[in-house]
Amino acid sequence: MDSNYELLHDLTSPVVAITCLRGKRKNGMIVNSAMRASLSPDRPLVSIYVHKFTYSHDIIFETGKFALHVLDKSQMDVVYKLGFKSGREADKFKDLPHRTGKLGLPILKDCYSYFECEVVNAMDTGGSTCFLGSVVNGGSGGGTGVLESDHMRNAMSDEWKELYLKNLKVAQRFITERAGKIKPLIWKGLKS
Ligand SMILES: Cc1cc2nc3c(=O)[nH]c(=O)nc-3n(C[C@H](O)[C@H](O)[C@H](O)COP(=O)(O)O)c2cc1C
Repeated sequence: MDSNYELLHDLTSPVVAITCLRGKRKNGMIVNSAMRASLSPDRPLVSIYVHKFTYSHDIIFETGKFALHVLDKSQMDVVYKLGFKSGREADKFKDLPHRTGKLGLPILKDCYSYFECEVVNAMDTGGSTCFLGSVVNGGSGGGTGVLESDHMRNAMSDEWKELYLKNLKVAQRFITERAGKIKPLIWKGLKS
């Protein structure tokens, strides 16, 4: 394994929950690839990298919208609900308290902070798409501290760790196979 891969662990973001909506179907996932992408106080931007095999990818690509939630340290249960299985298999929102945001997206009732975003650009990376989102609404949820990636890794039970590593291997295979196939991508904006 390339030693740079290990060193790049230091560049993972806090653990955040992404939610999205297509028609009446709500979905959500976990990413640790979220970044503030603009310093402008008037035009805040965020970016996220989403693997192409996820259900959320299809929904965000089609609707051009997502909500990003910075999670609180106490919200490991949300990581498990959203980040360990696909919404293609089960409705993840059945037991997840939420409300409807200004863009119509599901907003988690509990979180450290949230941001409702419209996609304004996208970049193909081969195995994933980097979505650049313009923050159009947001708010603070309070809490005791942001759920950082290191904290999550240490707080996982052995059972979760095993599943996490299994899922990671599948994602790595998918991404490695597509790493050399990066296509130019022009974000055309929303159709409606
Ligand atoms: C801690 C953690 C970090 C993750 N980071 C990412 C990420 O940056 N990008 C990504 O596409 N998936 C990431 N995942 C995996 C997705 O959350 C997972 O594949 C999810 O089941 C996708 O759900 P969906 O198919 O319903 O969209 C992460 C999962 C965990 C637990």
